Amino acid sequence: MRTEGQSPTGESPVPPQPKSDVRVKLVESEEEWSACKALRVRVFVQEQGVPLEEEFDEHDASALHAVALADGRVVGTGRLYRLAPGLHQIGRMAVEPGLRRRGIGGRVLEFLEECARRQGASQVILHAQTYVLAFYLRHGYVAEGKPFMEVGIQHVRMAKPLVAGGRVA
Ligand SMILES: CC(C)(COP(=O)(O)OP(=O)(O)OC[C@H]1O[C@@H](n2cnc3c(N)ncnc32)[C@H](O)[C@@H]1OP(=O)(O)O)[C@@H](O)C(=O)NCCC(=O)NCCS
Repeated sequence: MRTEGQSPTGESPVPPQPKSDVRVKLVESEEEWSACKALRVRVFVQEQGVPLEEEFDEHDASALHAVALADGRVVGTGRLYRLAPGLHQIGRMAVEPGLRRRGIGGRVLEFLEECARRQGASQVILHAQTYVLAFYLRHGYVAEGKPFMEVGIQHVRMAKPLVAGGRVA
């Protein structure tokens, strides 16, 4: 787990948060990281059937991890890592099953996009499970290429350009 330092512009990599019952922030402790891992196991391994040995990979060590907290409980997570200069990848987006479609996933996604922008990314990409294509489309992502299988689940690559200020280019 790694949290990035200040950007070359001196801007904090952590976006400010609006007031809400749900708070989205960087994972900052082993306890939060353990809870995020447990959520990923519940969602991807137990709910979706992803093999445990494929759920955690080399990117987890270098990624910046987001956590959504509701009353101190971890209810959502997602990660961001750098693929190439200016190009970052978001993944492992997961929200507690009973709390979906209340905007938590969207908050985590926007938080990670803002982190990417603050780290100098001009574009973010992700591998979207095709069943939630609408989730990413409504956040400005565009599908690229044909769907493909990953961990036995159909995905499609999606991309979103970022510009300073967090607006879509
Ligand atoms: C994908 C996920 C992170 C979205 O989180 P969320 O908190 O439910 O998302 P939000 O509430 O911010 O956004 C909801 C919107 O996304 C879209 N959406 C979310 N889940 C959807 C689903 N199962 N089917 C279709 N559209 C969906 C819809 O546009 C929805 O708006 P609506 O409820 O008004 O129709 C969450 O569903 C999840 O954890 N799924 C299991 C893990 C997973 O598939 N992760 C994504 C891997 S690419």
